[in-house]
Amino acid sequence: MNALQTILSTHYGLENVDISPQQGGWAALAYKVTDNKQSYFLKAYDKERASTSKWTALIDSYVPITVWLMNNTDLHGKIPVPIQTNNGFYKCEDDHGIYLLYAYIDGETIGKRTLTKGQIHQFSAMLSELHSYGEEIPLDTHAIKEHFHAPFVPLLKDALNKEYDRLPSDVRERLDPYVETIKQIIVTFYNLSECLKNTILRMALCHTDLHNWNLMQAGGQLMLIDWEGLKLAPVEADLMFLTDKPYFDEFMTIYRKSHPDYVINPNALLFYQIRRKLEDLWEWIEQLAFDSQTEQERADTHDSLQKELEELDSIPGVSTDTAPSTD
Ligand SMILES: Nc1ncnc2c1ncn2[C@@H]1O[C@H](COP(=O)(O)OP(=O)(O)O)[C@@H](O)[C@H]1O
Ligand SMILES: [Mg+2]
Repeated sequence: MNALQTILSTHYGLENVDISPQQGGWAALAYKVTDNKQSYFLKAYDKERASTSKWTALIDSYVPITVWLMNNTDLHGKIPVPIQTNNGFYKCEDDHGIYLLYAYIDGETIGKRTLTKGQIHQFSAMLSELHSYGEEIPLDTHAIKEHFHAPFVPLLKDALNKEYDRLPSDVRERLDPYVETIKQIIVTFYNLSECLKNTILRMALCHTDLHNWNLMQAGGQLMLIDWEGLKLAPVEADLMFLTDKPYFDEFMTIYRKSHPDYVINPNALLFYQIRRKLEDLWEWIEQLAFDSQTEQERADTHDSLQKELEELDSIPGVSTDTAPSTD
């Protein structure tokens, strides 16, 4: 905790703080920090983790845009408030990690719960507000613009082809029955990517990581947190998280009040479904191949990878029938 105290004191001028670990998310460790005046939420990205550079590279581009949204749109009070360092930055770092500080949200993460009618209403209204803004906002959106690339796809492709023998043997054993299917999905990914690059699509601000662990209920307000995936993209980048939800029709009825002419672009939707799947697969493979993990962490990652592989056929048009049964 000493290193964290140093960070908080040096960069934020916070002294005599109480620091307690919190249930973090997928990308970072999390702490509640309290001084004699207020509480904060500290996100700490471990520099040793292979995925950290991906999550932190765009902090200086996306955080100012969330601040603009907070100050200029109806998302005010519905998204986290980042705290600037003494020098006016939204992040700081030491040898171990990269840190972001937020005002603490006193509330409950939705997590495993299902959304109530009122929450669905608020959620849809938030998304439709976010999707009303695009390139025209008075901030540079260049760095967060969608180009239909995915830096991890070539890495995954190589891992399944020329680098396959270098993967740990337990990872290869798990992947073997699914390798051909994943390779076919990668081909589809590249085809869709080319097609979308050549299509004129409306781009809007999108959160791109919509799930219940990124929603908190604070008092009467639903809050959308974890904006590290903020992009200027076709709105299917967000709507892909909702199409399979039982409340999708209700969600769209509210959404269409502000976007009456909107129709889903099926190619964009499939592109994002596939990209997310490949990203999750690569995250688990990368952890197993490169991260130093405890035995328990490794076993958990194997379970997550297995689950992801078994769900490959949830992508429209993908069949894993040729894969032998795993039970
Ligand atoms: N400002 C905040 N105040 C209180 N709790 C928070 C705050 N931001 C996030 N959390 C909690 O921490 C968890 C992880 O935060 P999140 O920003 O989603 O990190 P990750 O990028 O690691 O997923 C969330 O699911 C939520 O429970
Ligand atoms: Mg999260």
